[in-house]
Amino acid sequence: MDTLPSCHWEMLCIFGTGDLGRSLGQRLFQTGYKVVYGSRRPHSCGPLPPGTQVQSMIHVAAAQSARLVFVCIHRENYNFLETLAPQLKGKVLVDVSNNLKKNMYPEANAEYLQRLIPGAQVVKGFNTLSAWALQNGPSDASRQVYVCGNSLEAKQAVIEVATKLGFTVLDRGSLTAARELEDFPLQLFPEWRLPLQLATGLTAFFFFYLLIRDVIYSYVVNDKDISFRIMASLANKVFPIVSLIMLSLCYLPGVIAAFLQLYRGTKYKRFPDWLDRWMLCRKQLGLVALALASLHVLYTLIIPIRYYVRYRLAAHTISQIKENKTSPFDTTMAWRTDSYYVIGILGFGLYLLLGITSLPSVSNVLSWREFSFIQSKLGYLTLFFCTFHTYLYGWDKFLQPSSYKWFMLPGYMLSLVVPSVVLVLKLLLLLPCVDSTLTRIRQGWERTDPE
Ligand code: HEM
Repeated sequence: MDTLPSCHWEMLCIFGTGDLGRSLGQRLFQTGYKVVYGSRRPHSCGPLPPGTQVQSMIHVAAAQSARLVFVCIHRENYNFLETLAPQLKGKVLVDVSNNLKKNMYPEANAEYLQRLIPGAQVVKGFNTLSAWALQNGPSDASRQVYVCGNSLEAKQAVIEVATKLGFTVLDRGSLTAARELEDFPLQLFPEWRLPLQLATGLTAFFFFYLLIRDVIYSYVVNDKDISFRIMASLANKVFPIVSLIMLSLCYLPGVIAAFLQLYRGTKYKRFPDWLDRWMLCRKQLGLVALALASLHVLYTLIIPIRYYVRYRLAAHTISQIKENKTSPFDTTMAWRTDSYYVIGILGFGLYLLLGITSLPSVSNVLSWREFSFIQSKLGYLTLFFCTFHTYLYGWDKFLQPSSYKWFMLPGYMLSLVVPSVVLVLKLLLLLPCVDSTLTRIRQGWERTDPE
């Protein structure tokens, strides 16, 4: 392994006086390092952090004065560094660059830099931090710095600086990992993409389904315009329906995985990729579902103050007075409505608990056993309550022919399919003989099939 020339330890060099270069210089200076900038326009590069100095028009002096050089310039401007190759020989070059798009170039920026200056030791790092995060110091969301590089010694030097700045360093291995690190800042909430796409797809489907079934049907068959229902009634069907389906989709991969293990008789075979990916976004699925359930609760709160509801109530009362009759108190109806409201409230309470405990600041203080108890046992209970709430809401409506307009099932019935399947499958898994086999498999036992 090459040994690094011994230079002034505390002198660091930064190429580039853009936002990132400036913020980095300021942090390094505040941490006790001497900082020297290399700039093509040393007299017109704007104000630099106090205490730092700009040295040379062609970077040479700056490069010579430090053994660690942060390259804070765009990849498009890298070629001029080639001319500095003799001065940069043996130096550690920290490539902090990012690209605007994935796969913009055939090789990672850091690998390109290494190719331009083979005598230097290139380390990729700091690229996942913003100038803002650098200036303000490590905060919760930006504590981590990823590094990768071929020289252990060079990497160690960079890790030391990052640690002094207060960051947690994650070593991702050799320079071949640079492309992956360069892709990190380009990812926009990657684990939220699938749950949000699913929520949008299901919402659009149920919106149009219920629009046809409720509003258009009434317009065509009964010649009645009830389009105003789109705003509240329709929304208050779509949101809970999608929420319930998505909640059940958080638990479906778990039961599929359990049946797969039972079928294979071992836990040592990998799950298919799609199942892995599905399992990894369960938390986000659950949080989107919780947001939709919260909307349902808010919509439900406004039911009594809606003009349409108050009008119907008054009209009903007046017609009873006119006809001089009182409808008798229906105890079954009272039981049914109270029950489904209360089960809904209990379900929503548990739903909130699941959401809160999935947040990192809360889950970090729970032991693994506590976390899995809440997310699994209470999770199934939540699913059970929400499903039961919907069954109670439906009650005997499935017997009435008027429920099947244009042969289309009511939305709530469709929403019950996946949750019911998940609960039945879970019940099967809880059968003592199945449960004990699964437990043995999960403890490492393998079924040996007769030859
Ligand atoms: C329907 C109340 C929580 C799922 C309803 C309805 C009410 C209601 C009043 C009938 C709405 C209508 O007539 O249009 C509540 C209350 C809750 C609660 C008070 C808790 C505070 C939940 C939760 C879920 C859920 C957590 C699970 C996602 C459903 C479903 C329907 C429904 C799927 C049927 C929608 C339809 O097609 O009409 N709920 N609910 N509810 N609720 Fe809830």
